[in-house]
Amino acid sequence: MNGFYMSQPSNRVFSGVQPTGNLHLGNYLGAIRKFVALQESHDCIYCVVDMHAITVWQDPAELVRNTREVTAAFIASGIDPSKHIVFNQSQVGEHAELAWIFNCVARMGWLNRMTQFKEKAGKDRENASVGLFSYPTLMAADILLYRATHVPVGDDQKQHLELTRDIAQKFNNDFSAQIAGFGHGEQYFPLTEPVIEGPATRVMSLRDGTKKMSKSDPSDLSRINLTDSADDIAKKIRKAKTDPEPLSDSIDALKARPEAENLVGIYAALEDSSKQAVIEQFAGKPFSEFKPALADLAVARLEPINSEMRRLMDHHDHVDAILANGANRAREIASQTMKEVREIVGFLGARAR
Ligand code: TRP
Repeated sequence: MNGFYMSQPSNRVFSGVQPTGNLHLGNYLGAIRKFVALQESHDCIYCVVDMHAITVWQDPAELVRNTREVTAAFIASGIDPSKHIVFNQSQVGEHAELAWIFNCVARMGWLNRMTQFKEKAGKDRENASVGLFSYPTLMAADILLYRATHVPVGDDQKQHLELTRDIAQKFNNDFSAQIAGFGHGEQYFPLTEPVIEGPATRVMSLRDGTKKMSKSDPSDLSRINLTDSADDIAKKIRKAKTDPEPLSDSIDALKARPEAENLVGIYAALEDSSKQAVIEQFAGKPFSEFKPALADLAVARLEPINSEMRRLMDHHDHVDAILANGANRAREIASQTMKEVREIVGFLGARAR
């Protein structure tokens, strides 16, 4: 039996982005840019999670468009789909299959504690989809199908990553006899680590420094979209809410000024430096000086991505081919894991498939 089990990769990254429209600076700085950086040190799998998207209603034609747009954003930002894997979730059926098994591992009590469900379901919980409730078990399946060790996410996803570890641990425990009996000894699923770091893990609204930048904010001035023109970007930064004080010379003093802190964080992330370095550069300067510098930097960073995204969206056969190729490579790993999981769980005929 030895050799039947896949060995655990030591540095595999997995992450996902929902194709629900309006990719913005928060998605870019909080997620996509980290995905790009991790390519240097890890084997990466980046997934457009269309199955997660339909936990709330998506217009089918829009879903197709948005799936291509997220893919285009990945590629335009510098993710290399020939060295790493880029695909959309629904092309690999094993995600749904493992999610079902995890639905039977996770406990109601665990899912009842998830704050994202409470926020998204709002007051009308009776009318939320069952999928929205079990969303985190599909997310755990995404990650553990590939036995990913590291998951770059925004800080709002921390709780889902903890749940993923709980599921892995309970699976490893519940089936320890089967897992060990097949000569695997150690835990079958790894306890995945979140990767949450950098100056802009939380990019806030440009209109209210206490709220996250969000695609669903009714004011378009609250966010910088990856598809915004240079003029729009400059205008939105010019109009961003601030206070009348010049920039402070310490990070501590910024803490009580959420709008100022947010803009400094954005600058630092775009420049790949730190809040401290930005503060040293701009201490005592008024926003009338800081904002144009930020606008120039934002345009310089985002304009090339924007134009490459537009080019890719005009050639969507190319984008579709990237996803199909990525899905084939993802499926090779996923099908191997599922074969093993079916056997571990006691599903007859697992080997034959
Ligand atoms: N829930 C994540 C979000 O909304 C998206 C996601 C789905 C994900 N599956 C994942 C992120 C797996 C990391 C790993 O941002």
